[in-house]
Amino acid sequence: MMVVPIDKIKSGQILAEEVRDINGRLLLSKGHAIEANHIRIFKIWGIPEVKLVGADHHDDEPDSSIDPEFIEQIKEDVKTLFCHVDLEHPAIKEVYKIAVQFRCKHNIIVENGDLPLDDQSIPRHDREKDFLKTLQAKKIILPEIPSIAFELQEVIENPISSAEHIAQVVSKSPSLTAVLLRIVNSSYFCLPSSSKISTVSHAVSLIGTQEISVLALGISVFSIFKNIPKETIDMHSFVRHSLLCGLLSRVIAAYKNVPQTEQLFVSGLLHDLGRLILYIYFPDESRNVLARSRNCNKLLHQEEKEYLGCDHAQLGVELMKQWNLPLILENNILFHHNPSEAQQPVPATIIHLADIIANSLGIGSSGEKFIPSLDYHAWENFDISPSSFETIIGQATHQFHALESVLHA
Ligand SMILES: [Fe+2]
Ligand SMILES: [Fe+2]
Repeated sequence: MMVVPIDKIKSGQILAEEVRDINGRLLLSKGHAIEANHIRIFKIWGIPEVKLVGADHHDDEPDSSIDPEFIEQIKEDVKTLFCHVDLEHPAIKEVYKIAVQFRCKHNIIVENGDLPLDDQSIPRHDREKDFLKTLQAKKIILPEIPSIAFELQEVIENPISSAEHIAQVVSKSPSLTAVLLRIVNSSYFCLPSSSKISTVSHAVSLIGTQEISVLALGISVFSIFKNIPKETIDMHSFVRHSLLCGLLSRVIAAYKNVPQTEQLFVSGLLHDLGRLILYIYFPDESRNVLARSRNCNKLLHQEEKEYLGCDHAQLGVELMKQWNLPLILENNILFHHNPSEAQQPVPATIIHLADIIANSLGIGSSGEKFIPSLDYHAWENFDISPSSFETIIGQATHQFHALESVLHA
């Protein structure tokens, strides 16, 4: 098998691995001879390279341009992050292998070092300090969802929403329109340069109502939190983790032929939103819980539960309830660390896997240092082959890099 950049493909060459579009939908199956028309479609959908039948590349061969000592160091360091999962489990083994390759290629090292811990300020959880009850008693005021995000959610839920409708909603916010147009004209969609898009309705007609609405919803939700000071939380890193998780969730969903892939993108994007509530409203306590989990090699969400009486998933759901977002989001967010307990385990398992993969790759962070434990029961019922991870991760990280470059332009 050989990996060939899109510009170097010749008609007649045989695909060694299926090619999927930005939503994970199949463009061409494995074993097909590629024709000129296929190459044009691959370009439209921003496929950077494909795997072709050939003998001059082996996936398992280490990249000879990377220092072998560096590879060994990464292997050892990444292993320390997998201390809460079974490295012999086929899914985890594959995630670890890909994480090492990815981190070597992109020079993503494991950050170590303890965090300062002010042990006096937070006793182990007692009933006096139940943060969930504090929220539910409305002793603190949660941020309001922008009305535009609420309207966008309605558009996403309605399969017959028109291009005009979504264009009307988005055009209420000039800043949202500007970001959206920057994205649709970027390499994320890789549309031909002749079709420069200057209006939202044109974007919708080319890309689709659901796709545009979901992007707009994500941008407007995170805009609520854009002014959090850097000492409280690194929002850049938080958004990177959230975005990758959303993209991975959508690609996994498409692989599993799960309907409503856009709803899964939103769930992945918002899955750790409860942590922002912690960081903003309970900064001292969350700093200490963070330090405790790092310094004692514990999983952050378990420490949250032990010391705060609830975890970020429960707090996130409070926000979803206040914002009146659909129940499926509550299902996916509440159970993203234990999907087998969800009423709808399939979508929750998708977010769960996406989160494990996103943490392993080291792209951004919502605060968790370690790879969250795998819900083995959910995994067994999910039925996806670990051999598909490489393609899924390749697809999602390609989308991530294309999207990130415009979001931070
Ligand atoms: Fe989480
Ligand atoms: Fe996460």
